[in-house]
Amino acid sequence: MTGRQGTAPHGAESAHDPIGHLSSDLLAGQVAFITGGGSGINLGIAKAFARCGAAVAICGRTEEKLAAAAEELAALGAKVAYRAADVRDMDALQASMDHAAAELGDISIAVAGAAGNFFAKAEEMSSNAFRTVVDIDLMGAYHTARCAFPYLQRTRGSILFISASQAFKATRYQAHVGAAKAGIEMLMKDLAVEWGRHGIRSNSLVPGPVSGTEGMSRLAGPTGDDMWRKAVPLGRYAEKEEIGAMAAVLSGPLGAYVTGAQFLVDGGLSQVGSGEISDAVGRALFGEE
Ligand code: COA
Repeated sequence: MTGRQGTAPHGAESAHDPIGHLSSDLLAGQVAFITGGGSGINLGIAKAFARCGAAVAICGRTEEKLAAAAEELAALGAKVAYRAADVRDMDALQASMDHAAAELGDISIAVAGAAGNFFAKAEEMSSNAFRTVVDIDLMGAYHTARCAFPYLQRTRGSILFISASQAFKATRYQAHVGAAKAGIEMLMKDLAVEWGRHGIRSNSLVPGPVSGTEGMSRLAGPTGDDMWRKAVPLGRYAEKEEIGAMAAVLSGPLGAYVTGAQFLVDGGLSQVGSGEISDAVGRALFGEE
C-alpha cells in the first residue's frame, strides 16, 4: 500500500477512498473474472480491480446491465470483456469465461460473487425456493471455481468467494442462505488445501451491509436501514469501495501467502447476535409478535 491515511496518491474520488491508497499497478498484468459483476458489491470489486490495473471480465444474467457496467469499467482505463451467463448453467459460465480469456488473456483472479436472497420462513418456503438459492450461491460458486481451474492453474491464481455471516451466525428466515453460504465456506477451505499444490489460493470475503446494493434494499426493505446501522458495531454501512479494496488486497500480490482464510469486512456485524433484526423482520414480514 502507498500513501498516508487521509490522502490518496492517485485517482482518489473522495477523502475516504481506500482504493486510492492502493498502488495503481497492484494488479497490473492480471485478468479478473467476476460473477455477478454487473452491479452492487461485485461491480464495486470490479472497479477496484480496474483502478489497480487489472483487465476485468464480468458476467451476470442481464446483458444490458453488463454493457452499462462495462462502460463504467472502461472509463476507469481497464480492458473489459463481458458475456451474459447464469452461474447455475456451467456450460454458459464456461463460455463466458473462455470468451473473457480469449479477449483479455488467461484468468488469474476469479471472484464468485453472484448470489440470490430473500427472507422466507423455513417451514413455508417451497423446495424450489430453497434449491434456487443453493443453486445460485453454492453451485454457482463451485461452477466458477471449476470453470476457472485450468486458467488459475496456469497463472497460479486466486479465487475469492463472496460469502455472508449467515454461513456461521444462525439467522431466522435465512435457512436457505445459511446452508448455501456455509457450503461455500467449506468449499473455499477444501479448495485451498486441494489446489494449493497448483499455487492456487482460495479465500472468502464476508461483507456486512453495503450501501446502494440490491442485497441491502432486499434485506433492509421491510425494516428500514436505521436498525441495521445501529446493529453494526461501527454504526454504518460499508461503501462498495471498502469491500473492493480488501478484495484487491486479498486477490493480488499483497495476499500471496493468504489461503483458506475467511476475511470479515463487516464493521463487526458478525460479532453481534441476529435476534433484534430477526425480530423486526418477523414482525414486518410475517406478523410475528
Ligand atoms: N419468498 C419465498 N419464496 C420465494 C421468494 C420469497 N421472497 N422469492 C422467490 N421464491 C421462490 C419462488 O416462488 C420459486 O419457488 P416455486 O417455484 O416453488 O414457486 C423459487 O423461489 C424460485 O423463484 P424464481 O423467481 O423462479 O427464481 P429466479 O431464478 O428467477 O430468481 C431469486 C432467483 C428468487 C433468488 C431472485 O430473488 C433473484 O434473482 N435474486 C438475485 C438478486 C439478489 O437476490 N441479490 C441479493 C443478493 S444478497
